[in-house]
Amino acid sequence: MIIAIDGPAASGKGTLAKRLAARFGLHHLDTGLLYRAVARDVRQRGGVLEDASAASDAARALDPATLNDPGLRGPGAAEAASMVARIAEVRVALREFQRSFARQPPGAVLDGRDIGTVVCPDADIKIYVTATPQVRARRRYLEMQSRGEPATYEGVLADIGRRDERDAGRDASPMRPADDAFLLDTSNLDIEAAFDTAVGAILGKAGQRGPV
Ligand code: CDP
Repeated sequence: MIIAIDGPAASGKGTLAKRLAARFGLHHLDTGLLYRAVARDVRQRGGVLEDASAASDAARALDPATLNDPGLRGPGAAEAASMVARIAEVRVALREFQRSFARQPPGAVLDGRDIGTVVCPDADIKIYVTATPQVRARRRYLEMQSRGEPATYEGVLADIGRRDERDAGRDASPMRPADDAFLLDTSNLDIEAAFDTAVGAILGKAGQRGPV
């Protein structure tokens, strides 16, 4: 079974994807880490993020063993990721890794921006997670505060707005819900309620086809 979870920054898709993977006994890939790692590697090699050939070289050479680098977690890394994520060759270079990850038995949950539309268009279920920019900024702000990272709510809101615009406005695999995605608006849902709704949608879909 392949579950595709997409949505904008801080929509709650990462937490949801992790919990769904545990619930259904599937592998989980946070695909944002791939773009974050490409940006890190471009800089480590002394390159600039706007250089398409440096970024695609870094994407082709990416070592998946380096994805648990704690340096990939921060907001600076997310901003840098969205710069290299605009480059079509970078996306192509990362596509096969994502697809073979998804094909591992017994299946996988992948979260990102283009999983349901481009990476796994045949996923068994696609969920597009959204929330208002204000709710997402508040969540991310509280998350950063709890990690002791300096942040202001206004700053986080501006970062999220800029990144949403870049992700939805790019030509290469723009962020958007697949036509057959289940839309999950978590503006008024806590993680438990979002999880329960997603599980209900997955079981409902599986019920139409046979047991999960
Ligand atoms: O956790 P958050 O949603 O803030 O970030 P993320 O999922 O790690 O993604 C960081 C950036 O990587 C996004 O703003 C996108 O530009 C890019 N990305 C993408 O283009 N495609 C994906 N499948 C995943 C991430």
